[in-house]
Amino acid sequence: MSDAAELLVRSNALRQRALARTPGGVHSNVRLAGPQVFIDHARGAWLYDVDGVNYVDYLLGQGPNFLGHAPDDVTEAVSEACGRGLIFGGQHELEVKASETVCEALGWADMVRFGVSGTESVQAALRLARGATGRTKVVRFEGHYHGWLDNVLMADGDNGWGVASAGQVAGHLDDFLLLPWNDSTALTETLDRYHDEVAAVIMEPVMINAGVIEPKPGYLETARALCSEYGVVLIFDEVISGFRVGLSGAAGRYGVLPDLATYGKAMAGGWPVSALAGRAELMTLFGSGKVNHSGTFNGSVMAMAATHATVSHLIENPPYASITSHGSALMDGLRDLGRSHDLPLRVEGLPMAFHVSFGDAEVSDYRSLQQLDLSRYARLAPELVAHGLWVAGRGVWYVSAQHGPEELDAALTRFDKTLTDWA
Ligand SMILES: Cc1ncc(COP(=O)(O)O)c(C=O)c1O
Repeated sequence: MSDAAELLVRSNALRQRALARTPGGVHSNVRLAGPQVFIDHARGAWLYDVDGVNYVDYLLGQGPNFLGHAPDDVTEAVSEACGRGLIFGGQHELEVKASETVCEALGWADMVRFGVSGTESVQAALRLARGATGRTKVVRFEGHYHGWLDNVLMADGDNGWGVASAGQVAGHLDDFLLLPWNDSTALTETLDRYHDEVAAVIMEPVMINAGVIEPKPGYLETARALCSEYGVVLIFDEVISGFRVGLSGAAGRYGVLPDLATYGKAMAGGWPVSALAGRAELMTLFGSGKVNHSGTFNGSVMAMAATHATVSHLIENPPYASITSHGSALMDGLRDLGRSHDLPLRVEGLPMAFHVSFGDAEVSDYRSLQQLDLSRYARLAPELVAHGLWVAGRGVWYVSAQHGPEELDAALTRFDKTLTDWA
């Protein structure tokens, strides 16, 4: 690390200035643990820092850059659209086009409301579920992340990120029933007992935030059947999985349809925009005014142009085959390197989002994930960054449409060198 750290002259100077004016030098606490490197620009699957060092990017801005950095069709659509004005406080055609395109891509959703962040759209979903059912409690799961607000941010050890916060109001989680995920029996027993009080079940339908763990066969179907039986709203939080694990997200990939789902990240090529999509019967409660969902910046010209361009791109030129091929080759290559360095490297998940750690365990939920040596990988991650691989300490790697043979070769060469130097 030391050689690379010495290269970061400009980054270090900017870091000192940032620390003087910005708490921790970062504008999102998630970045406190990340590399303190300042980026100059990004293109394709690469980041370039202010000291001229390049990185193959497998973090993708925590997920949004699914088409690669600054895709031409998205940036051109945004530039062209915002020449006519940025935000109107009134309706415009791009909102209609973006809504139609999102519903077309998802296939199952009748209507959509746009927001600015995934956190907000999750809140809109919870309020809508409570407004529709007249019930208060929500079932949620260990290891699943649903944003940073008081009523969803969980204590260290519960959500896999250790991000609970001083200042959260007492009893902020009193209305939640917390269960292990992927456990049909626990879900059945809880809903059999409490269904009269439960407005919603909310989950990441594939638990990407903690370990990239897929649902067990039949689990999503069980959740769907129980929610239908008891009139509970099934919410898929697809802020990460949406448009990434397939055009219609996890709902399409696993063939189980929620009542509501939240989207963000991969939906708009990097532009900050989120969506709550769902069945008309629920969504129309916003339109009637019974349930309030508001926001000054919702449906801005830029957000709608970026969403329309990105989702149109995904429909017309689906990148899923090339991403699957790169991701699978990368996963295999990393496993081979682990073996050749005699390390218990574990690479599991989906080709478009996978998890790297150390250890060997049967992992199906947040608790079993803890059997792996996650802290060993967290120590490796900064070394990978220092060798030109932009990755996060929690082990999730994202693959974009711009990762090709050159990036694969660079990634494996740099990973190999890191393991050699780290030994
Ligand atoms: C599944 C999930 N839901 C919600 C959020 C919150 O989204 P945002 O950071 O855009 O507020 C995230 C963010 O990572 C997420 O992964």
